[in-house]
Amino acid sequence: MAEPNHMSLELPGAQNGAHPSSENGTAPALPDEGRRYAQIIGWGYAVPEKVITNQDLEQIVETSDEWIRTRTGIEERRVAADPKETTATLATTAARRALEVADLHPSKLDLIICSTSSPEHIFPSTASIVQDAIGAVNAGAFDLSAACSGFVYALSMARGHILAGDAEYVLVLGAETLSRVVDWTDRNTCVLFGDGAGAVLIAASQVPGGIIATELGSDGSGADLLTIPAGGSAMPASLETVSSGNHFIKMDGKAVFRFATRVMADATKSVLERAGLTPEDVDLVIPHQANLRIVQNSVLKQLKVPEDKVFVNLQKYGNTSTASIPIALCEAIQAGKVKPGDKLVFVGFGAGLTWAACAIQWSVPTEAAATDWWKNTRRQAGYQAAAARSMWRRAVRWVYHVWPTDPESGALPGDEGIKEPETAVNGVRHSEE
Ligand code: ACO
Repeated sequence: MAEPNHMSLELPGAQNGAHPSSENGTAPALPDEGRRYAQIIGWGYAVPEKVITNQDLEQIVETSDEWIRTRTGIEERRVAADPKETTATLATTAARRALEVADLHPSKLDLIICSTSSPEHIFPSTASIVQDAIGAVNAGAFDLSAACSGFVYALSMARGHILAGDAEYVLVLGAETLSRVVDWTDRNTCVLFGDGAGAVLIAASQVPGGIIATELGSDGSGADLLTIPAGGSAMPASLETVSSGNHFIKMDGKAVFRFATRVMADATKSVLERAGLTPEDVDLVIPHQANLRIVQNSVLKQLKVPEDKVFVNLQKYGNTSTASIPIALCEAIQAGKVKPGDKLVFVGFGAGLTWAACAIQWSVPTEAAATDWWKNTRRQAGYQAAAARSMWRRAVRWVYHVWPTDPESGALPGDEGIKEPETAVNGVRHSEE
């Protein structure tokens, strides 16, 4: 973690050091020197190339384009068809894009939080795999499990670390390859989900705004309504669990639907209250992209937020679970729907059962920066260096493994030549003081 006294006075990025603006988007906001704020300064997303349309699904299960569109709003989704494309590779691409927008070197990151329900493994964390791939040599890393609400949970964790002075830069990832845990013979679930990843970079700042309030909730009495029953300690993997399909998503859709429409509205109301705002103050709501009817019955009908203030892109990607809000944020930015001074709400629900909302006052410019060939080349070289560093460390461990060690000290002959760097061992920065 970074030392707390390195607080940034100005926001780096977005778009190469541009200054954050005030509420009306004209004059720069003045730094509030006594306080810390958690500002979003970078964003990026990645989705697989392979598109699966509703018509494609008609060939797999007994369903129809008409049923899927009218009951969910989904038209197509992306699926990681290439086995080499995983939750970590999608997250890595999204992370690199977010770092690029913020123009921040990965070594500056203090913490990486990856929210996912389809991690690479039970352990190690997907966050650690991304940390290695991007060369974030000074960052701690962990995964967070709160299903589709996870991205907003992770934003809340990031904000907490920053406000406590424990971190200056936190990378928050929401990444899924749910296509790997969907039962492609179950029409109740396989038509709903898609793969993808989104990332945002949060920075400590003295500029007022950023993530101003969060609201998290859980009701574990509904744990069985949406679950992957097997593969954990309650039902370890066995021939029987595999043959009975218990490693796939099981869902009571109707019950989840009822829960979702209630908590999306309630969580939004609560977070706005905490932020001292009303629904009329909100410029854009980015809801979890699960089902158009859930969005209509909650945010639009109950809170009376007008349609043009609610961003929806689920028709293209389906429900990408925890990745849906950051992907939608990136597309809202691309569509020119986010500008400095805007008040945003992110709100999600998911397995657990869980729900989460956060209120944000956006503070950085969102226009795309001109491509800088030199910086881009340097960045690519940095990622090659990160890959080389990772290989070197694996090679060193292999040598330790095959070479007979001194039983007293565990040292290898000629150890000095292959010592790991003192400043960043296993991602933990060692203080010089
Ligand atoms: N194609 C055709 N018919 C279908 C399909 C399908 N893909 N899926 C279900 N049906 C049938 C059902 O079998 C049922 O038939 P029956 O009446 O003969 O029994 C009929 O359609 C109606 O089913 P309902 O369950 O009433 O349909 P509903 O309007 O509730 O829509 C849906 C189902 C889309 C699943 C909805 O309940 C929903 O979106 N629920 C929320 C799910 C969700 O968001 N989950 C993700 C949470 S996030 C996370 O943590 C991963």
